[in-house]
Amino acid sequence: MLNLDGRIGGDASLSHRGEEYARKLPELVRASVGDDRPLTVWTSTLKRTIDTARYLPKHYNQLQWKALDELDAGVCDGLTYQEIKDRYPEDFAARDEDKYNYRYRGGESYRDVVIRLEPIIMELERSEDILIISHQAVIRCIYAYFMQKNQEDSPWLPVPLHTLIKLTPRAYGTEEEKTSANIKAVSTWRGKGSTAKHEDPVPEGGI
Ligand code: G3H
Repeated sequence: MLNLDGRIGGDASLSHRGEEYARKLPELVRASVGDDRPLTVWTSTLKRTIDTARYLPKHYNQLQWKALDELDAGVCDGLTYQEIKDRYPEDFAARDEDKYNYRYRGGESYRDVVIRLEPIIMELERSEDILIISHQAVIRCIYAYFMQKNQEDSPWLPVPLHTLIKLTPRAYGTEEEKTSANIKAVSTWRGKGSTAKHEDPVPEGGI
């Protein structure tokens, strides 16, 4: 719901289209992994991820991790990027300058998120068949780790909403398969310097 207004953070409910995605997710998962592989579902502790998991098969174990909560935007939680730019212009510029290390006042940086994700990554390294439902910043960090992306680039990666991303580690690297639910979404993704919100999907390589 907050994304619809271009607001970041918060603990809002799913929008109408978010709910539509939640209902479609079991079908996407089945098409991607089949019926005979029960998954373990990890969500954050925030409503929108828990609600996205609610139509998945009952025999899937579900676990909520605080470590999967969205990057904490501190005093900027619930604001739009335009409001952040107006109220904290120096912070807005500093974040664009070094998004990986910039820590929101009273909140977190991408570096902080990577550190709190360590137990999750360790657990993922020794597990199979985990379905993670989380948030853009957190998914960027997990994705960047498995896809061996540059730390400095990872905070700018587009993570398409309403999309299942399957990562399969192989000896030569990680295989990636994206399945879109073809349900439009308002993403708060923005390019450096911009405050614009837009409709997903973001073109490859960003805008
Ligand atoms: O809603 C906020 C996104 O999840 C992450 O935003 O690109 O400003 O870190 P960001």
